[in-house]
Amino acid sequence: MIEGMSTRHIVIRPADRTDLPALNRLIRSSYEAYGPPFYAARTLAGAIDAVMRATPAIIASGRFYVAEDDRRVLGCGGWGGTPLLNGAADLRQVATAPSAAGRGVGAAIVAHCEAEAAFAGARDFDCVSTLIAEGFYARLGFRHLRFTSLTVAGQPFAAVLMRKRLTPQG
Ligand SMILES: CC(C)(COP(=O)(O)OP(=O)(O)OC[C@H]1O[C@@H](n2cnc3c(N)ncnc32)[C@H](O)[C@@H]1OP(=O)(O)O)[C@@H](O)C(=O)NCCC(=O)NCCS
Repeated sequence: MIEGMSTRHIVIRPADRTDLPALNRLIRSSYEAYGPPFYAARTLAGAIDAVMRATPAIIASGRFYVAEDDRRVLGCGGWGGTPLLNGAADLRQVATAPSAAGRGVGAAIVAHCEAEAAFAGARDFDCVSTLIAEGFYARLGFRHLRFTSLTVAGQPFAAVLMRKRLTPQG
């Protein structure tokens, strides 16, 4: 595991259970701030309540991270999958606090997860991106595979399947 990676004074550390309330406030606020141009209000509210959250299980995976600056939580995100089995890993719950937008927080989280996934043997890094984040992931080298429609809280939720080829590590 790579700990204490710092980018422009942003420190990345593993999340723990005590972070959950702050992380879920952050994730909610990021979707409420960035989501409205891309999703109908009802779709967004349903998705935030149903799936846009960190959980005890995702934190227990040891692969979920907090980005912080002077102990202020600025962003979060993690990864999953079984690289040793199929060479693939995927990104989970990447979000930046609206007050920290454009500072490289999201990019730092994704870079940290990419390095860990590559070290664990992943060749491909997959992402089910929101419509909000497609341009962000494209900027970080992910390519658009196809649009998809998920069912979230009983409603269609448009998303984009994206993938990045990782550089072998270790
Ligand atoms: C997507 C998100 C994580 C970006 O966070 P951020 O910390 O502001 O992004 P960064 O500052 O690290 O941006 C990295 C680069 O991507 C670019 N970028 C960021 N958001 C972008 C967007 N929506 N469209 C195009 N480019 C974008 C930045 O300009 C920057 O480019 P640069 O390297 O040329 O300066 C944030 O907007 C967010 O939390 N969105 C809501 C939650 C969400 O949809 N998460 C994705 C789940 S799949």
